[in-house]
Amino acid sequence: MKSLTMQGAKILATGSAVPDSSLSNSQMSEIVQTSDEWIVTRTGIKERRLLTGMNQSVIDLAVLASMKALDKISMNPSEINLIILATSTPNDLFGSASQVQSKIGAINAVAFDLTAACSGFVLGIVTACQFLQNGSYRNVLVIGADTLSKWIDWSDRSTCILFGDAAGAMIIQSCSKENNSILNFQLNTNGNYADYLSISYQEQVNPHPILNLYQGAFKYVSMNGKEVYKFAVSQVPLSILKCIDSLNISINDIDWLLLHQANERILTAVAEKLCINTNKIISNLSKYGNTSAASIPLALDEALQINKISHNDIIVISGFGAGLTWGTVIIRWKAF
Ligand code: UT7
Repeated sequence: MKSLTMQGAKILATGSAVPDSSLSNSQMSEIVQTSDEWIVTRTGIKERRLLTGMNQSVIDLAVLASMKALDKISMNPSEINLIILATSTPNDLFGSASQVQSKIGAINAVAFDLTAACSGFVLGIVTACQFLQNGSYRNVLVIGADTLSKWIDWSDRSTCILFGDAAGAMIIQSCSKENNSILNFQLNTNGNYADYLSISYQEQVNPHPILNLYQGAFKYVSMNGKEVYKFAVSQVPLSILKCIDSLNISINDIDWLLLHQANERILTAVAEKLCINTNKIISNLSKYGNTSAASIPLALDEALQINKISHNDIIVISGFGAGLTWGTVIIRWKAF
């Protein structure tokens, strides 16, 4: 990436949105056989937000998060050239990004969905950077938004306790190489383990009588939690190490570790493996659970709101999840 960079990319603003309705662990224990103690000990999650009510979709959260980011810098939506919506829970299989484009009034923007589960926001940033650094576009809106509550089997205690709904947005603009904030990336996929975490399509038993065509429907989230846990703890540190090595920086240069918010134990294990002080971990999953593609921009936006992150801080961001996909982006935060 570094050698191909023709221009820089800088982050102008972030925004986030969560539904009003929250579900605590003790409320969860009225739905499935579980306990606050089990959930907190195994995951660190205390509550999550759910998008309840009729006709509410991932679009509503994505629009709200985007408008907040635009408002922060008083940017007119017509200045956005490209919208990338990272989501695995669209309200339309043909894509939801165009509905976001319409609702925020980004009349000049091309818009498309990007499906890469919990790694979606990392892949979204990297994709945006390609368009910015080669000079194709000036302003890109990257959104990570998911409403996995709509795709969960609410009688399966091994998954339903984990997930929540949210959206996060980031506006990235092309700039001079000197102002570049997105320093490096490292991405991976291993489809051999796709069945560790999936929302798979199930065909009906009987085909169409004339066409021999099998139609079907999507199932609920299914996950082999133990294997996904082992994968994350073993592979994410390697991705981070590759990324910082090729950038010629050291572990000590890292100011903040911002991982996909899946499990507090994963965040701590990755930090400890890399000898990163655990007080450098950015974590908000106790309040929101695992919000899939939204988790990284939501946590970043919250950290910025409380002034946790300072000018020139190095933030290591890693996403991991279904696919399996995982990857890292290194950012030097610049307060413009
Ligand atoms: O976003 C994508 C990335 N996803 C992840 O990173 C998830 C990674 N995996 C995990 O975070 C953990 O594997 C979980 C939190 C999902 C599960 O924790 P675990 O320590 O791996 O538990 P387990 O699945 O091995 O289950 C241990 C026991 C089982 O009972 P037995 O067989 O030992 O009698 C489960 O039936 O805990 C039981 N159990 C529960 N008990 C109370 C499973 N879920 C629950 C529950 N409440 N909600």
